[in-house]
Amino acid sequence: MTQETTGTTDMTASATGNQRKVFIKTYGCQMNVYDSERMGEALASDGYQPTETMDDADLVLLNTCHIREKAAEKVYSALGRLRDMKRERAREGREMLIGVAGCVAQAEGEEILRRVPDVSVVIGPQTYHRLPEALRRAKAGERVVDTDYAVEDKFDYLPKKERGNRPKNVSAFLTVQEGCDKFCTFCVVPYTRGAEVSRSLNQIVDEAHRLVENGVSEITLLGQNVNAWHGNGPDGTEWGLGDLLFHLAAIDGIKRLRYTTSHPRDMDDRLMAAHRDLPALMPYLHLPVQSGSDRILKAMNRKHTAEEYLALIGRIRAVRPDIAMSGDFIVGFPGETEEDFQATLDLVEKVRYAQAFSFKYSTRPGTPGAELEDQVPEDVKTERLARLQALLTRHQREFAASCVGREMDILLEKPGREDGQLIGRSPWLQSVVVLGGDAAIGDMVRVRITAAGPNSLAAERL
Ligand code: SAH
Ligand code: SF4
Ligand code: F3S
Repeated sequence: MTQETTGTTDMTASATGNQRKVFIKTYGCQMNVYDSERMGEALASDGYQPTETMDDADLVLLNTCHIREKAAEKVYSALGRLRDMKRERAREGREMLIGVAGCVAQAEGEEILRRVPDVSVVIGPQTYHRLPEALRRAKAGERVVDTDYAVEDKFDYLPKKERGNRPKNVSAFLTVQEGCDKFCTFCVVPYTRGAEVSRSLNQIVDEAHRLVENGVSEITLLGQNVNAWHGNGPDGTEWGLGDLLFHLAAIDGIKRLRYTTSHPRDMDDRLMAAHRDLPALMPYLHLPVQSGSDRILKAMNRKHTAEEYLALIGRIRAVRPDIAMSGDFIVGFPGETEEDFQATLDLVEKVRYAQAFSFKYSTRPGTPGAELEDQVPEDVKTERLARLQALLTRHQREFAASCVGREMDILLEKPGREDGQLIGRSPWLQSVVVLGGDAAIGDMVRVRITAAGPNSLAAERL
């Protein structure tokens, strides 16, 4: 749940009669990418066609992220530009609606309307199924804020027929769990996304089938704490994520499964068994630790020690030796000393992550961390982040280099930059560039890795 992707949500929706167009810009984590797709689908059912040019759009929707201060600021600078655009349009007699969705909408609600009078709709992550209704009210001149935690289940109200209706997608996200009850002291997610809620097995299985029918063969299960997923199995017994993975792996047409983001406290034996026994479950695990210092882990309310985390990875590697680890780190949490930071570097040395995301601690209003004394000065954070990133990058390169000469299956996802090239995904989530030959997007092909670059691997087909 980490990459701050900013991209447009791109989908070919079945547009109906009138030609209203929506441009959706997505900030934040994969949950937001998924939500943008679902909002796009809800709007497609309501007559809005997606567009990738903001200039064409009758509705511009920002799906926002509140995780760090910078992420939230980005939204306000984007809104500034949109405001100017809207006013210019008004002079030409063209209307444009501006909507704000996602975690900034949830956290700031009315405040957004106050700060940016040109925004018409503010809608939270739990109410976006009500977006068409909110837009109707906005068109009638009302300014709408809907950030309730809806009593109804939004997934029951989202259009199902549109799901996965994007033939070019080989790989798709499927949200199985939302919200968080962990309350790490630095984090806004429990406030922006609310309490932990699992979707039902039936809903998940139905959606997986619809995705497969539309040509998807790799599904990534999503949740802020995806391994806290729980539900009832068909026989009424309590199931966890491990059981869910076994169940989904049996669906014809699902070639690959992944899940993200998991919390170290929720890695149970059944999930380990899934990693051991399911060839479809890819050997890649994003398991954030944040810090290697027990003192800081405690202050962060992570509820585990560095030793416990390392022992857990030891158990995972014992059942799945080729697993690649990925993680998230925060440097400069209040009170972090040079010694604490050194413990983080030590942990990183021991784990050797194939991929990692690291951030300077950002004080978030309303979180317990914001109240702590001993905030670390900005220049110290900057310096620690640089040292940590140098180490993480070195390991990442070493991991990529270790792949050269290896044979592996890659799932072809999209065309490459040059003629005849296709880009596929390795089991370890790397982009792999290969000459496609007779293979097509959606095929799984056997390749040998010939070279490792900073962001992708090159391969030849076998
Ligand atoms: N649920 C996931 C994380 C979601 S947020 C988990 O528990 O691991 C994604 C990442 O953003 C976190 O892992 C953390 O590294 C980072 N992050 C969250 N709050 C932050 C803050 N206040 N300052 C800096 N980084 C933060
Ligand atoms: Fe945030 Fe912690 Fe919950 Fe992850 S587990 S979403 S870091 S509160
Ligand atoms: Fe950001 Fe919300 Fe995801 S705060 S990281 S978009 S859950």
